[in-house]
Amino acid sequence: MLTVGCLLSAGCGKKETGGDKKLTVGFSQIGAESAWRTANTDSLKDAAQKAGVNLVFSDAQQKQENQIKALRSFVAQGVDVIAFSPVVSTGFEPVLQEIRQAKIPVILSDRTVDVSDPALYASFVGSDFVEEGRRAGEWLATHTDGKATIVELVGTPGAAPAIDRKKGFEEAIAKYPGMKIVKSQSGDFTRAKGKEVMEAFLKSPDAKGITAVFAHNDDMALGAIQAMEEAGVQPGKDILIVSIDGVKAAFEAIVAGKLNCTVECNPLIGGTIMELSRKLADHQEVPRHVTSQEGVFDSANAARELPNRKY
Ligand code: AHR
Repeated sequence: MLTVGCLLSAGCGKKETGGDKKLTVGFSQIGAESAWRTANTDSLKDAAQKAGVNLVFSDAQQKQENQIKALRSFVAQGVDVIAFSPVVSTGFEPVLQEIRQAKIPVILSDRTVDVSDPALYASFVGSDFVEEGRRAGEWLATHTDGKATIVELVGTPGAAPAIDRKKGFEEAIAKYPGMKIVKSQSGDFTRAKGKEVMEAFLKSPDAKGITAVFAHNDDMALGAIQAMEEAGVQPGKDILIVSIDGVKAAFEAIVAGKLNCTVECNPLIGGTIMELSRKLADHQEVPRHVTSQEGVFDSANAARELPNRKY
């Protein structure tokens, strides 16, 4: 009985990937702009290795055109499943249609796309970015009694987390007439640009009035901390800082009193993507959305969590 069961399931499982052929997943990553992104890449690679999946990895170096080329090359190679983390949310519809014609299922990893036909992808695995922005806004409102003059370090223009985190944050602070975003500029999700933009904010004539920073990710917040220290401003005290991701360096900055809050965004989604890839290759049903469960960390709980941080 056992043998028959094993043979049957092995036979079913291998149907679409061709006899003994390994499952091949093409994965187009955005780049390596942040510590979060590096952890995400490692998660995908480790999970593929553990699951015995042949991962064809491509780094788009922040360029949509590179990503589109990679997706076309996955089609040409005849991979079983395509996963990708779209650098921006628009402009992918034509290539997604080509992928559909080639009958290759698509998983969106971490970021969503704007498409007229949602059936162009099978599943999205990632975070609720609007909720993350909302949590950051609510944390700031609670810790400032609803009074703050805020500067915002925005992520990559056109990227889903930049659009959605802004939306969620603005929605949360809209309930507090004493909270205003006075400057908003992209730092492209990188530490270097976060620092550069914060330096410019601190040099502006109205810099003295700034009481808070909302950074769309930890790397930009860490860059802003550097800029403040160089300008003789005490990060975390003179200016409160709230950011998103929950990378180890952000926890260390909270423990050091330089960052006030980080809203978690979980990059460790590789295991789920491999699991869904196998199911899709076997024509099984998969959930339309798999949303990560995430926490909020500040001086009350960061030190306790720091030793457990995996990224
Ligand atoms: O899409 C997730 C975001 O992209 C992370 O917040 C950020 O660090 C990354 O670059």
